[in-house]
Amino acid sequence: MTPSESLTVTERAAVENVIDLAALPRDFAWGTATSAYQIEGAVTEDGRGPSIWDTFSHTAGAIDGGHNGDTACDHYHRWREDIALMRRLGTNAYRLSVAWPRILPGGDGPANAKGLDFYDRLVDGLLAAGIAPSVTLYHWDLPQALQDRGGWPERSTAEHFATYAGLVAERLGDRVTQWATLNEPLCSAWIGHLEGTMAPGRSDLTAAVRASYHLLLGHGLATRAIRAAAPGAQIGIVNNLSTVEPATDSDADRAAARRMDGHVNRWWLDPVHGRGFPADMRGVYGVDLPERPGDLETIAAPHDWTGLNYYFPQVVTADPGGPAPYARMIERPGVPRTGMDWEVDADGLETLIMRLTEEYGARRIHITENGSSYPDTVAPDGSVHDPQRTAYLTAHLAACARAARRGAPLAGYYAWSLLDNFEWAYGYDKRFGLIHVDYATQRRTIKSSGHHYADVIAAHRAL
Ligand code: IFM
Repeated sequence: MTPSESLTVTERAAVENVIDLAALPRDFAWGTATSAYQIEGAVTEDGRGPSIWDTFSHTAGAIDGGHNGDTACDHYHRWREDIALMRRLGTNAYRLSVAWPRILPGGDGPANAKGLDFYDRLVDGLLAAGIAPSVTLYHWDLPQALQDRGGWPERSTAEHFATYAGLVAERLGDRVTQWATLNEPLCSAWIGHLEGTMAPGRSDLTAAVRASYHLLLGHGLATRAIRAAAPGAQIGIVNNLSTVEPATDSDADRAAARRMDGHVNRWWLDPVHGRGFPADMRGVYGVDLPERPGDLETIAAPHDWTGLNYYFPQVVTADPGGPAPYARMIERPGVPRTGMDWEVDADGLETLIMRLTEEYGARRIHITENGSSYPDTVAPDGSVHDPQRTAYLTAHLAACARAARRGAPLAGYYAWSLLDNFEWAYGYDKRFGLIHVDYATQRRTIKSSGHHYADVIAAHRAL
């Protein structure tokens, strides 16, 4: 079946009429994204050490269904097949993450040659297929050995991160141009150390704020290390941002929205853009930052591109009794939601792209993740028809094109995700892939949304 045959009339109309493809640059990066722990499996192979996610996912009650990433999509062994699938989608870019515990199983010390060899082969395979690798160095899988020494609340973790980043850049920097230091540091700090529902599973505001600081310091130190090892590197940081609106016009809700904006957006954007940590949020957290002279300059090391992960908007109300930032999302009735219960609002993506462009002066923006989970089923004929994901994808690509038409320097879009995979605390039941994975057999099936994406890409190329 060719991609076109898989589209309904409505879907085809969506490709042709809804997305202003001509607004996107000719050399647009059409990609998919994944992360190491979510797809690789092979957690004890070739010298890989344990990460905080191995520990957390094996903690009773931490993960829905008692799932873990031990096997995941078995990408460690099936990467050739997965590259072939990327070719079928027609993508020219792929965002992957390197597992720190494969490279430095003990967190520091000598590098594990076999770990580096795996990514070396993967990068070569991608390039041979005409797919540009975009490498993220930290997608949450801190070596457990470093957690045992205190993890991100400790400054030494940021320093170890820079050493690791330099090692990987030294090995791959002759072929990889696009690098991201951190993926969604918000999740590492706020969800991992404050809400406690992600690794390492702590609920401690002081630890969370210190972790946020050292993550950003790690970004700055790693930026320097990558540039030293690979002078041509294009370096960015990936944040998951949300639009934030107050639930009502009350002063309390408007103040709550301002705090939530500080918590999820400004705390992460301001320091790397040389504005320091937002003063209002320092007051909200009331935690001393572990600052040393020169740190703010390090954190604000010039970056070449900005990564935006976007999933949902936030409408918030004041929550004085809750955790920082004393604001919480409300559920608006009648608004469409994905299988994660996240509101669907493609306009929010356009708004955030324009905010990065106008308020932060972004020079090049990549949508490093965007996607939706729905409970897909395999039809008796073996196909997976997922019209809701197709609609989500179309609407968000249309939002990208609108922003580009308005002058945003949009350079790429990486659909989350290439494959269904281990969705952290939700286990395997939340499926984000353009490609369905049957975990019992590891059989991959391109969903109709994947065929749709292939059609969009082909249509753009044909312009
Ligand atoms: O699966 C995650 C990914 O690891 C980080 N960004 C959000 C995705 C969906 O929750």
